[in-house]
Amino acid sequence: MTKITKAVFPVAGLGSRFLPATKAQPKEMLPIVDKPLIQYAVEEAVAAGITEMIFITGRNKRAIEDHFDTAYELESELEAAGKTKLLEFARNVIPKHVNCVYIRQSAPLGLGHAVLCARPVVGDEPFAVILADDFMDVDQGRKNVLAQMTEVFEREGKSLLAVQNVPRNETRQYGIVSARPYQDRLDQVDAMVEKPLPENAPSTLAVVGRYILTPAIFDHLEGIGKGAGGEIQLTDGIVALMQEQAVLAYRYHGLRYDCGSKLGYLKATVAMGAKHPETGAAFTEYLRQWQDENTPQPALKLASAG
Ligand code: G1P
Repeated sequence: MTKITKAVFPVAGLGSRFLPATKAQPKEMLPIVDKPLIQYAVEEAVAAGITEMIFITGRNKRAIEDHFDTAYELESELEAAGKTKLLEFARNVIPKHVNCVYIRQSAPLGLGHAVLCARPVVGDEPFAVILADDFMDVDQGRKNVLAQMTEVFEREGKSLLAVQNVPRNETRQYGIVSARPYQDRLDQVDAMVEKPLPENAPSTLAVVGRYILTPAIFDHLEGIGKGAGGEIQLTDGIVALMQEQAVLAYRYHGLRYDCGSKLGYLKATVAMGAKHPETGAAFTEYLRQWQDENTPQPALKLASAG
């Protein structure tokens, strides 16, 4: 069965929900503790066996290219100062066997259009799509979400969408699928709709930012027009693909943080800060103290005089 070796990272979005932080830097460079979101996403891909990272970038995204490139001045300064641990961090952002390719998406035409921009590099192979602002945390000892998905793909050979249940009042933020049981943790998708109103949503099963797609998706993305929000939607391409091939929804093991939103970003920061080898113990202790100091004391019950 075909192995997945290529991953597409659509990173051209403006990140307007994080202004002013994202005025002059990409949202994908926002750190969770000490690592930018895009690095977590690339590390997930590397651990899933992917060797070609294809970034669909836009204006103001140079920092992403610089991040995965050699930083000569920084390295020689750290080397001269004998700061070997920091030097390792600067050098080992990406393993040597991994290639990065950057393609500019010159107009903000949507996620489907971004994926289509990768066609010349992906060619006729199945590939992964990773949305870096969907940050995935998986229990120690378990494979990361993309690695879980590549394993399923190698077994099933079908396009695969990572899904989770969301509260009905949030369906407007997601591609929502309706699906029937297929196997453990796997459903076969019957329908999919981009950002439906809660009352129109076919279910509460939402697609989150991990996909494995067969290359047949490209012809469909070429053919569909603008959809929800006036953009070329990946969801609409997948709906067209479903007329030709089965598409599966995978209920992954793990916890997803929506780092495209401030609240999700803060939650991820707390979760990772509490786990981080350097800050974990002290930060957890701090959280405990903070909670003690900020939890209102229960009002004293006065004994009834009666
Ligand atoms: C995109 C997709 C949507 C998916 C979501 C996951 O939306 O269009 O189908 O559910 O990612 O995060 P966006 O969050 O870019 O608006």
